[in-house]
Amino acid sequence: MDIQKQLPNLLKTIKRIDSSFFYYDLDFLEEHLKEMNDLRDPDIKLWFATKANPLSSILKLMRNLNFGVDVASLGELEQVIRSGVKPEDIISTGPSKSRKYLRSLLDNEINCVVIESVYQLKWLEEVAKEKGVKARCLLRAQLEWEEGSSVLGGNDVTCFGMDKETLLSIDLSQYENVEVIGFHVFQWGNILETQRLEKIWDKICLEIKEIASQLNVQPEVIDLGGGIGIPYEKGDKRVSFKKINEILVNLKKKHGLQKIWMELGRFAVGECGLYLSQVIDRKKTRGRDILVLDGGINHIARPALTDQAFPAEVLMIDKDKEASKETSKFQVHGPLCTSLDHLGTFELPANVDYGDWLVFKNCGAYGFTEAMPFFLCHNLPAELVSYKGDLMTPRTIKTSTDWLV
Ligand SMILES: Cc1ncc(COP(=O)(O)O)c(C=O)c1O
Repeated sequence: MDIQKQLPNLLKTIKRIDSSFFYYDLDFLEEHLKEMNDLRDPDIKLWFATKANPLSSILKLMRNLNFGVDVASLGELEQVIRSGVKPEDIISTGPSKSRKYLRSLLDNEINCVVIESVYQLKWLEEVAKEKGVKARCLLRAQLEWEEGSSVLGGNDVTCFGMDKETLLSIDLSQYENVEVIGFHVFQWGNILETQRLEKIWDKICLEIKEIASQLNVQPEVIDLGGGIGIPYEKGDKRVSFKKINEILVNLKKKHGLQKIWMELGRFAVGECGLYLSQVIDRKKTRGRDILVLDGGINHIARPALTDQAFPAEVLMIDKDKEASKETSKFQVHGPLCTSLDHLGTFELPANVDYGDWLVFKNCGAYGFTEAMPFFLCHNLPAELVSYKGDLMTPRTIKTSTDWLV
């Protein structure tokens, strides 16, 4: 996203609301999604992982550009339905699906349920039977890898999906009201190297083909989840979706697949969002330059969860002040009374001080809804959207009196 182009809107917003906020450039997002649509092989279906950003205007854009959506909770299901997404454009992943939730998914006639445990499969069968429908599903597998961990587990044992032994113990003839249309595997997140993605996906296809043949299933779909990275660190390169499409088309040929699905989160929306927060204080502590901001992990928790900062730059709003050429390393913290509230260490103009703002990039995914907003009762951030020349505020700031009882 071109921050310079957004500057008039950002300055206007700072002046108007004077509190931390998220800002999404939906023209940028629209262009990015259209590019993916134009490049995509027709046998590759793209869904959007709602958890990355459930803002209704983002969901509406997904809907209008023929992306399906993946929901992982009743809350997300309600939000996508309220945003006008059609039932056939909804799938549901996630390890926590009660019988009641599975019933809601079938009541809403969604396209496909990703089954992550034997109980989920049993309950889906029971609910489908009660309703007199055949429920389409993918079986989610958790494979073993040589080594490594990731937010999605990597080779760690997690609650996602079923291992090979469990899958092979399933007698599908017991599930007359369930139609297994394929498999789902997703264990590696935020990967920028396309060769690595290709290696991961190739192994998935190989192992799933073997599992499918032992279960006597002809998979129509292999869902590879998300996992395509975006550049958070200096020197990181953007992943080319043209290359991703090429890899997927080759895998389709190599493994004789019919359809490949992916539900993208970070790669779909990460780069369309900014988070802006004001510098409240500056000090030197035991030789380190420290900045304290209005907002921190109460608004963007990802740096604390992953130990990876969002890239940041300084925005000086005082007309008489200019960023110095000389830079210095600053340890940047949010307002919470925990050392976990650390947003990163950045090389910033040496004269940055209270009153200036920091602009964090790539905050369109895993921002507002991944945070811990209530701790210490600071303001909740606003969310602003810029689209086709309009600047809108779907979410105004909320103060503690809006939620404390
Ligand atoms: C099942 C599933 N699919 C897709 C995604 C989106 O992943 P990403 O943001 O890496 O594209 C997630 C994220 O956690 C997920 O749990």
